[in-house]
Amino acid sequence: MAANWKMFKTPTETTAFFTAFLPMIEGAAKADVAICAPFINLPAAIAAASGSAVTVGGQNLYWAKDGAFTGEISGPMLKAIGCEWVIVGHSERRQFFGETDETVLRRTKAAIEAGLKVILCVGEMLAEREAGQTEAVLHKQFGAGVAGLTPEEFSQIVIAYEPVWAIGTGRTATPEMAAAAHKVIRGLAAHAFGDAANTLRILYGGSVKPDNVASLMAEEEIDGALVGGASLDPASFSKIVNF
Ligand code: 13P
Repeated sequence: MAANWKMFKTPTETTAFFTAFLPMIEGAAKADVAICAPFINLPAAIAAASGSAVTVGGQNLYWAKDGAFTGEISGPMLKAIGCEWVIVGHSERRQFFGETDETVLRRTKAAIEAGLKVILCVGEMLAEREAGQTEAVLHKQFGAGVAGLTPEEFSQIVIAYEPVWAIGTGRTATPEMAAAAHKVIRGLAAHAFGDAANTLRILYGGSVKPDNVASLMAEEEIDGALVGGASLDPASFSKIVNF
């Protein structure tokens, strides 16, 4: 169960979140929990999570290790402060910041080289779903963004299926729709990486809330959730973790 806080919270608010959240998920042994926070909140998140089972991640990285790249953050920097994860290729990065399948692949390889695990996001836009192109979009995103990984690199990624029309809209994909897309992704993974596809974790993201998480998770193909809005509040995210 991964939280994507997007561009929300200050360091003080981050510490307050963990103070409330950690006791609420005590004993939630069945889920791995990760919080992906804005860069500036990562030290506070890592300090607060220390000694707990909760892991912390960034929401993006640049592929160079260091250099004259004003405003960017590298994989080794995230690793050095104690991040375990990084999100790559979120649809908001694709829509608003020029991310492409090619840059997704570069970032993913750089993250893994730095010792991070990657939550790699794919998913179709509303117009693409309505035009019946969901599968074609997943093929293209997987082919250009994932299939170029080595088998060792592939073992370090989790894929998040996030239909863009379900993000922040309150409009969730039905469990059946999500499971069907996950099945397509697992099929693509099997074609490219063989049996390793069986252990690939595929998360669903897009308006996951405490009241719909159980029906989504009841689908065998859905291994977890990437949660935006509902991850900002400790009570609501703990209900999702403890579903
Ligand atoms: P919401 O849960 O706010 O729809 O966001 C989903 C998402 O984009 C997670 O990465």
